[in-house]
Amino acid sequence: MNSSPLQSKRIIITAGPTREAIDPVRFISNHSTGKMGYAIAEYLYSLGADVQVVSGPVHIKTTLPPHVITNVITADEMLAVTQELGATADVIIFSAAVADYKCATIANQKIKKQEGALHISLVPNPDIAFELSKAKQPGQIHVGFALETENGLPNAVSKMQRKKFDFVVLNIQDNNGSGFGFDTNRVKLIDSDMAVTDCELKLKKEVAVDIVNHLAGKLQAAETRKEMSHA
Ligand code: C5P
Repeated sequence: MNSSPLQSKRIIITAGPTREAIDPVRFISNHSTGKMGYAIAEYLYSLGADVQVVSGPVHIKTTLPPHVITNVITADEMLAVTQELGATADVIIFSAAVADYKCATIANQKIKKQEGALHISLVPNPDIAFELSKAKQPGQIHVGFALETENGLPNAVSKMQRKKFDFVVLNIQDNNGSGFGFDTNRVKLIDSDMAVTDCELKLKKEVAVDIVNHLAGKLQAAETRKEMSHA
């Protein structure tokens, strides 16, 4: 692969879950491990890209140096950091599994067990990819993920269009080695012109190579277009 389009490119990657507090000892979150996002970040870093990871709480042994990782807990924190770093980015990769909801209020003290049901009021979290799409700069590339259990293709396409992704990675969630917690993943890469690239089941680290190669192709095409417009 010709890695030159990635050299020194400023690439922001959101990764892992977010965690939304209920009280000082409890939270809402999801099963994301962050493996996919970190695998992409590590490969990009090895190719000489200027990588910044905005990471929710994960338990990952990474080869990335600490100064390229900003740790956050909540979706609001992830949004603030991604907005700040994203302003000067060439590429933003939204691989985080952001919690869709947060508590309307966070209890100051541990909520006591009570008779009967406990009702917690939830309000929507910001959609980080959608917020960043509003500030998308000309030439900036946004990559999204979609994890669907049904109607994968149409759902992924509508997400891509709403959030202005240049391409979307559709995760095939099944119990045959693909999805949260597995070291392997089966994905389809869907372009904004609706071209679909099918990838077979492989290690997340190998899927990361496919995604980065696809991204390199987009950057190369953008550079060629720029050169031709200046010719
Ligand atoms: O709508 P859905 O959550 O399936 O969209 C998935 C894509 O949007 C992923 O790329 C994910 O990182 C991003 N996203 C986000 N902020 C949210 C929800 C999703 O950045 N609050």
